Amino acid sequence: MGKTVDPFWAAVASFGVDQLFVLPEWIKTKVAEEQIVIPEGIPGKMAALEEELSGCMKCPLGSTRKNIVFGEGNSEAGILVVGEGPGATEDETGRPFVGRSGKLLDKILASIDLNRENLFIANIVKCRPPNNRAPSSSESEICSKFLEQQIEIMKPGVIIALGASAARTLLNTRTGIGLLRGEFHSYMDTPVLVTYHPAALLRSPALKRPVWEDMKRLKSFMGEAGLPRESGEK
Ligand code: URA
Repeated sequence: MGKTVDPFWAAVASFGVDQLFVLPEWIKTKVAEEQIVIPEGIPGKMAALEEELSGCMKCPLGSTRKNIVFGEGNSEAGILVVGEGPGATEDETGRPFVGRSGKLLDKILASIDLNRENLFIANIVKCRPPNNRAPSSSESEICSKFLEQQIEIMKPGVIIALGASAARTLLNTRTGIGLLRGEFHSYMDTPVLVTYHPAALLRSPALKRPVWEDMKRLKSFMGEAGLPRESGEK
C-alpha cells in the first residue's frame, strides 16, 4: 500500500501529527469532489449545455453571428417549440423569436394559453445564417446535435416544429408542411406536431386558418397528455 503525503496533510502534520497514512484513492476522491460540479435538474443541465456552446465555431455560422441563440423559456414544462434559426433581431439580442415572426408566434401561442413561461423555444441552428438565408444541410446537421441534447435533457411531451427546416431536420423528411400537418409524427418517441412557420403567415395570411386548426389539435393533445407540466414533474 503506498504512503502519500499531500500538501494538505503536510500542513496537518506541521501541527504536531508526525505520521499519516493516506490512501491515494482517498485523495483523488477529495480533489474530484472539490472540482467537479454535476448540474442537477433540467434547468441546471440546460445551463451547463448553454455554457458548453459558448464560443462555438463548429460551423461557418460561428464567424458571422453576433450572439448564440440557445433558446429560452420553461425547460420543465414539457412543451418544446422549434424554429429554423435566428434572424437579425435574435442575433442582436441572443433571444429566440423576438422579431416580427416572434410577435406573431406569441399571439398564436397565446390563443391556446401558451407563453414563454409554460414552454421552451429553440431553433435548429443557434447562430444566424447571413442575409436570412435558410441554414445549409451541413449547418443544420452539425448544430442539431445541440438541439438533440436539449431534447434529451427536457424529455418534452410534445414538440411543435415550425416550418420546413424544423420538420425536415426532426423528421428526416423532404415532405412539405402541407402534407405533414394535420397529424402527429414522432421524433425518438416524442410526438411532433408540424405547422407553418410564422414568417410564412406574414407572407401568406391564408395560412392562418390551417395554423389555427393545428393549434386546436395541439390544445386537445395537451389536455390529454397533462401538458404543460408543473415544475419538477416528469
Ligand atoms: N425565425 C426562427 O425560425 N427562429 C427565430 O428565432 C426567429 C425567427
